[in-house]
Amino acid sequence: MRVLSGIQPSGRLHIGNYFGAMRQHLEMQAKHECFYFIADYHALTSNPSPQAVAEYTLAVAMDYMALGLDAEKTVFWRQSDMPEVTELTWLLSCVTPMSLLQKCVSYKDKIAQGLSPNHGLFAYPVLQAADILIFQSDLVPVGADQKQHIEVTRDIAMRFNNAYGEVFKIPEDHIIESVAVVPGIDGRKMSKSYGNTIEIFEPEKSIRSKVMKIVTDSTPVDATKDPDKCNVFALLKLFAPAQELAEWGQRYRAGGMGYGEAKKRLAELVIEHFKPYRQKRAELEGNPQIVDAMLKKGAERARAVASPTLLAARKAIGLGERR
Ligand code: ADP
Ligand code: TRP
Repeated sequence: MRVLSGIQPSGRLHIGNYFGAMRQHLEMQAKHECFYFIADYHALTSNPSPQAVAEYTLAVAMDYMALGLDAEKTVFWRQSDMPEVTELTWLLSCVTPMSLLQKCVSYKDKIAQGLSPNHGLFAYPVLQAADILIFQSDLVPVGADQKQHIEVTRDIAMRFNNAYGEVFKIPEDHIIESVAVVPGIDGRKMSKSYGNTIEIFEPEKSIRSKVMKIVTDSTPVDATKDPDKCNVFALLKLFAPAQELAEWGQRYRAGGMGYGEAKKRLAELVIEHFKPYRQKRAELEGNPQIVDAMLKKGAERARAVASPTLLAARKAIGLGERR
């Protein structure tokens, strides 16, 4: 089975990204032929600074590699190193109705907030469709928020195939649902864009201080507490072994426990969880040229797989081979 997914370098990766996407991406390597890329073209739709794009792209690559991405087996590259994908985007754009893109939530959200979206954001789902279709992917593992984009991809592929012949495989989505939405330190969804994240590899001291800042209610220490309404408990669920989690649940309900105690333990669990990968992450940080070379090699492998699809699409649409 060919699996493909992308992640935007729009900030440093956090524990929500880990439990909501990365962990499953990494696990799938054992069973499938995996293609993973850093979606830097997509990140440009929010107009980051030039320094940010470069810095976060490398950081995302280092995080994946430190956590176990096997670059020999898995094809791993930077989206913008593969020009074929933007060329296919244009061919797909020409069979994509405006109305299909007008229905997309990322675009509608911006409009609802009174912002004026750029054309890149409007066309974002077509670029994503090109990412997926150019590899004849079978399965696209993504968070539930991306389901609509996979549906749009299927719709575009069918329109192209109906008009010009069977060029593209119709992919399936694989919605990663093993965890609920991971809350950030302010209690909203943990997200790079809310500044409420705990990064996977931030310094231990800073993990501790962020965990201590997690928003809780003002129930007094003595009072009984509902673990299912607590952000600290929601995070403990991800990190604590089952037995320990059950004990924390009882202590919450029994009263006499302060949130500070649960937070201290949570910070230690988060640090312990990622500790085995920290040394590798630090080595990569000190050798960005290795990471860069690995992404470059990945792009060569990716392009070799993608080029025949682009050529088939060009021929089907009447352009033929490039002279
Ligand atoms: P962010 O909101 O931090 O910018 P992205 O939208 O780039 O994250 O998401 C990358 C992947 O991580 C997606 O598959 C998404 O579903 C997953 N993800 C992001 N935040 C969370 C979260 N708080 N809980 C669970 N999964 C998340
Ligand atoms: N839009 C995805 C996100 O924000 C990232 C992405 C870009 C992607 N191209 C993709 C995901 C292709 C899966 C397949 O998370």
